[in-house]
Amino acid sequence: MAFFARNKAAKRSGPSSHVSFLKYADYRWLKIAAGFSALTILIYALIDVEPRHSGNSWYGYTLGTIGAILILWLALLGWRKRSIKPGQWTLKSWVSAHVWLGVSLIVVATLHCAFQFGWNVHTLAYVLMMIVILSGIYGICAYTILPKQLSSNRGDMTQVEMLDNLRSIDRQLHDATQPLSTELANIIGASLNDDPFAGSILARLKNQYPSCPTQYAFETVGAASRSRATDNVDDIVRAAQLLSRKVTALSNIRRHLQLKAQLEIWLYFHVPVTFALIAALTAHVVSVFFYW
Ligand code: HEM
Repeated sequence: MAFFARNKAAKRSGPSSHVSFLKYADYRWLKIAAGFSALTILIYALIDVEPRHSGNSWYGYTLGTIGAILILWLALLGWRKRSIKPGQWTLKSWVSAHVWLGVSLIVVATLHCAFQFGWNVHTLAYVLMMIVILSGIYGICAYTILPKQLSSNRGDMTQVEMLDNLRSIDRQLHDATQPLSTELANIIGASLNDDPFAGSILARLKNQYPSCPTQYAFETVGAASRSRATDNVDDIVRAAQLLSRKVTALSNIRRHLQLKAQLEIWLYFHVPVTFALIAALTAHVVSVFFYW
């Protein structure tokens, strides 16, 4: 029960609560990972033989075995996250160990291959591992920075309230369009039909929508309201004011979607590339023993 209560509280407080796992048990896993990395570097420096060791020396095999086991263990986090297991190895300590030991893999794998890279399956496994690690580091930075920006952009509103506000402006805009000319009504109609969730993932990440019908309607109706060349100018001014409110509401929603996309995008690399890494790692290990 206490576990569920903790889990609920963590969900309420959002991704920023993730960040505390970095400091878990007074940085226990940072200290272990740093100590282990320092030891491997020291041993590497002390084995002063010519030619320098490579992946198939005793040192290379030792680090290779440690690295492969570590990768498989790191990949098990997906399973651990989904299984509820209170006890000494809490999810927080798993994630803390995952992050710090994951970073130490850079040292382990680089010294395992002794800086020997080429166009082969061994380097492919190394590159995929680096993609997973770098995406993880990005994820940590995103969890640290973005939740604060998300809540300051949202103000007191939830995502549902932001969308309700947009729909309410749309309803008023729909009514305000009735007395306008067909040309202006069509331009505003395109904005009313515009889905705030539409657009490519790139547009969402960059928060750039160059052919936004709402922005176009705002500029065109705004210009018409300033020209005062027609007799229903009050109706045009009213529509322009509503469009101005819509532009603001839409830009808040789009900023919200941008921050959420930035917060989630790394997992789309981290998890699938983990599977590719395990496949490349298997090919790497099999080929090493096949040609032995
Ligand atoms: C080769 C090394 C690594 C592998 C194979 C790996 C694999 C995984 C897998 C399979 C998950 C579970 C994702 C899910 O099911 O939701 C995960 C989550 C995660 N990984 Fe990694 N990872 C590695 C390295 C790293 C590194 C170096 C970092 C950070 C510096 C990191 C940060 C994270 C974080 C923050 C999560 C999400 C934890 C959560 O949602 O609570 N990973 N990783």
